[in-house]
Amino acid sequence: GYIHHLDFILEEKNYTRLCATKSMLVVNGMFPGPTIRVRRGDTVFVNAINKGTFGVTLHWHGVLQPRNPWSDGPEYITQCAIKPGANFTYEINFSVEEGTVWWHAHSDWTRATVHGAIVVYPPEGTPYPYPQPDAEEVMILGSWFKGDVRAMVEEDLVEGVDLPTSDAYTINGQPGDFYPCSNGSTYRWHVDYGKTYLLKIVNAAMNAELFLGIAGHNLTIVGMDGSYVKPFVTRYIMISPGRTIDALLTANQTLGQYYIIARQFISAVITYELYDFTNVSAILQYNGDYTPPEKPEFVTLPNYYNINAAMDFTGRIRSLADEAHPIDVPMNITTKMYITASLNQFLEPGDTFRMSSSMNNISWNNAKLDILTAYYRNISGVYTTDFPDEPPYFFDFTGILPGYDMVDADTGTRVKVLNYGEEVEIVFQGTNVFNSSVQHPMHLHGYDFYVVGAGRGNYDFDNDPKTYNLVDPPHLNTMSSPKSGWVAIRFRANNPGTWLLHCHLDRHFSWGMNTVLIVLNGPTKETSLREPPSNMPTCKPTLELKGT
Ligand code: C2O
Ligand code: CU
Repeated sequence: GYIHHLDFILEEKNYTRLCATKSMLVVNGMFPGPTIRVRRGDTVFVNAINKGTFGVTLHWHGVLQPRNPWSDGPEYITQCAIKPGANFTYEINFSVEEGTVWWHAHSDWTRATVHGAIVVYPPEGTPYPYPQPDAEEVMILGSWFKGDVRAMVEEDLVEGVDLPTSDAYTINGQPGDFYPCSNGSTYRWHVDYGKTYLLKIVNAAMNAELFLGIAGHNLTIVGMDGSYVKPFVTRYIMISPGRTIDALLTANQTLGQYYIIARQFISAVITYELYDFTNVSAILQYNGDYTPPEKPEFVTLPNYYNINAAMDFTGRIRSLADEAHPIDVPMNITTKMYITASLNQFLEPGDTFRMSSSMNNISWNNAKLDILTAYYRNISGVYTTDFPDEPPYFFDFTGILPGYDMVDADTGTRVKVLNYGEEVEIVFQGTNVFNSSVQHPMHLHGYDFYVVGAGRGNYDFDNDPKTYNLVDPPHLNTMSSPKSGWVAIRFRANNPGTWLLHCHLDRHFSWGMNTVLIVLNGPTKETSLREPPSNMPTCKPTLELKGT
């Protein structure tokens, strides 16, 4: 493969949206940030140069980073922040992904403005396993905050209150026709009649799963999360934060203008200020000679609470699983974990409550040092290895009554240790603890996994495994546990390192809905962690590193 060198200059710049101007951190003066284009087998060195005023890290979402968590990016998990005035060069190896993945900041809520797409083409001379498109188009869905989101989050986390709500959703950085002061700059995608386009959709929104559809046009889904899927035709998609979708669109309609609409899917009937039901819009615009209509054609999407529409869409995803793209589902599970995902309150001394969230009732606390350095250098007192394989209590997790024993979460920096080569199954169980059953888009760093099953209600250890798809399960890096339901994933622990597992709703992640899997080294050098780069950002210049 080829080796690419890129500079990512992180710098503040002014942007105006929703009738207000603010300064925000972006990469290379672009929002959304630059698209990285590579082929499978390539390596990219990204020199991240921090010219901003606070520390930042970058993550390459969906890139496995074999043996190299040093370049994975999540703050306090695999590195500490690149400080203002400093730089750090990430090495990104594209070993297995083909399709679309993406990159984003992985410190505080900086990813709201620091993110972009990564397009991974097949190796030279290898065609796509679907009709060759005439052109491609990247479409990034995002969240816009009028204020300084990082400052707001910091304040709310200290006070323990609810975290900020975005003021708009965006398509390629623009809120579109249905938000104030926005319709002059609605994003327009220009197409030629008769051509077929490969649309690459990234959900970079902070806290929202989204439905998306294009008036008058079908989408043929051909890839997700950097893996090929069996093509299927749909009028709409449901896309979780973290997810990427490759879809073919043929411009075969009457010359005209068609709305591209996305809006929040929240899996619950709630009238709550927290949610924004506005349609974010862009316009698919045919090139050519015609009188433009007064208004583009509109598309109707499933209702915001239409869980069946969401599950119908995700239920259609299958791995391509053809001869050229064989699958390898672990069949002899050596570690099975059952992990509840809950929203909680956390009782502080003095009888005050703060918002919290948890996995198996443990709310993650960042340590002062990143987990990877502590693990690699054998520094004790940073984390414990007692993340449990199941929740502390069993009850009707999805029932109407919340499980009172699980309203308060414990806190800790507890990780799960896996031996190299283990075959792992994790069942995520959504709960109705605290009366707040919603979907949780679970994302695992360092791995893709097979989604072998999903369902509503409580997971049934005896019967639900009989429903698993072990023939062509989707191969993904992010998958939502359904509202009041469960999802089962499998992977082979063949990538040594310290890998973050978390809900990709930043609201939940900030409150502690995450843990870390440490995958131990295998027997050989090729199955062991690589050495850290020499210029790894440290946590505190004065921090004394004890241990070996
Ligand atoms: Cu999209 Cu932990 O990342
Ligand atoms: Cu969540």
